[in-house]
Amino acid sequence: MKAYVQTLPAFLGGKPVVDPALPVSHKWPILTDADEQAVLEILRDGNLSTHPVIHRLEEDYRRLTGRRWALAHCNGTTALLAAFFAAGIGPGDEVLVPSATFWASALPMLWLGALPVFCESEPERLGIDPEDVEKKITPKTRAIVIVHLWGLPCQVDRLRDIAKRHNLLIIEDASHAHGAAWQGLPAGSFGDISVFSLQGDKLAPGGEGGVLLCDDDRYFEQAACLGDIHRIAGLKGPRRRFAATGFGLKTRIAPLSAAIARTQLAALTANNRTRGENIRYLADKLEALGIDTFPDDGSTRRVYFEFIVRADPRKTGLPVDALLAALHAEGAQASAPRYPLLHQQPFFTEGHFKTIARLEDGFPYPDYRRTALPRTEAVNQELIRLPLFLGAGRDLLDQYADAFGRIIAHAPKVLAKWEDSSYNR
Ligand SMILES: Cc1ncc(COP(=O)(O)O)c(C=O)c1O
Repeated sequence: MKAYVQTLPAFLGGKPVVDPALPVSHKWPILTDADEQAVLEILRDGNLSTHPVIHRLEEDYRRLTGRRWALAHCNGTTALLAAFFAAGIGPGDEVLVPSATFWASALPMLWLGALPVFCESEPERLGIDPEDVEKKITPKTRAIVIVHLWGLPCQVDRLRDIAKRHNLLIIEDASHAHGAAWQGLPAGSFGDISVFSLQGDKLAPGGEGGVLLCDDDRYFEQAACLGDIHRIAGLKGPRRRFAATGFGLKTRIAPLSAAIARTQLAALTANNRTRGENIRYLADKLEALGIDTFPDDGSTRRVYFEFIVRADPRKTGLPVDALLAALHAEGAQASAPRYPLLHQQPFFTEGHFKTIARLEDGFPYPDYRRTALPRTEAVNQELIRLPLFLGAGRDLLDQYADAFGRIIAHAPKVLAKWEDSSYNR
C-alpha cells in the first residue's frame, strides 16, 4: 500500500494509469477453424433440423457431467421450463429461488402456475442462502433452484442437505458454470434436473441453445414430451402416445448451434484456463487491497463467466459509486453487475406475474416487496464488474491493480472530492 501512496489518483489530478493503447478485449466467443469446419459439415450434409450432431452434443454433456440423460434445447430458458415441467411443478406450488440471478432461473415456472419465492443470497459465494431457504419452506414448497452465479459453485452441500430433509427437489441452473466443480464433482451433476445455457456469452456457447440433464428416466421422458417431438416417438414407455402432439411447444436445438456448441465445449478447458490465469493474477493483487474476489476455497473449482468483485466500503474507505468514479478517471472499465434483483422488477412489484401464473383473485402470493431481501440488496450494491481480460497482458492487469491501489491509498481525499463534486448527484 505504501508504494501506492506516492502516486496521485487521476481523480485527484494524477495521470490516468490505464494505458488506452492497451485494449481490453471483450471479444467472445473465440471462434476458430474448428467452429467453421463444424458448421460447414452441417451445411454440406444439408440436414438443418434433425442432424445427429444434436445427439453428439448430448453425449458430450453426459460425459461432462456424468448424467444418464441429456436433452438439448433451443435455449436455456426453455430447458428450465422443461425442468420445472418434468419435475411436476404446477399450480400453487412454491419454488425457492435466488433473486440475484438472471430472470430465466425463476420466471419460466410461472407459465406452469408455480410461484417463485425469492431468497437472500449469501455473501461468501453469492449463491442462494441456505439459512434463508430453510426459513422460507412452507407446505407448498416443492423445489429449490440453485445457481452457480458468475461461475462460483454455490453451497451445494448445505442446500442438498436441506432438500433431502424437507423432501424437496433441486433444479440446478449451471448456465454460468461450464467446467466448474464442487468437491471434485462437476457443475451440472447436482440437481435432480440440471440445466446449462449455451447462449452466445456463455463459457461453451452455441449461439442459442440449452441442455437439460437428469438421471431419472421419467424426468427425461416428460421433458421430451414438452416439445421434442422426434424424441417422443422414440420413447419406450407410455408417453410415446404423445408423439403426434407433444405438449404444445417446440424445444429442439438447431443443428448449426449444436455443432458450434460441441467445438466450443471441446475448447472449454483451454479457454477457462486463459480466463482464469489472467483474472487470478489480478485477483491476488486486489485481495491484498481488501477487495473480495471470491477465490476458490478447498471445496470449489470456480470458473469466470464474469469477473465480479466485492468492494466493501468498510475495507476500501469508499462507497462503491465513488470508487467507480475514481476507477473511470484512471481509464479503467468497471460497472455494476448486469442483473438487477428480480424481486424488485416491475413484473413482480406491479403484479404482472399474476396474469402469467393465472392466479385467482385473493390467492396468497409470496413477498415481492422491494425491501424483502435487505442482505442481498446490501451485498449487491457493493459488487463491481470488471473486464474478463481475455488475451490481456500482465501490463494491463498491473495497471488495473495500480488503479485500485492508488485510489484506496488516497481514499479519504477521493471521498472528500467525490462528496463535494457533481459525481455524487
Ligand atoms: C443464470 C442463467 N440462467 C438461464 C439463462 C437462460 O439461458 P438462455 O439465454 O439460453 O435462454 C441465462 C442466460 O442467458 C442465465 O444467465
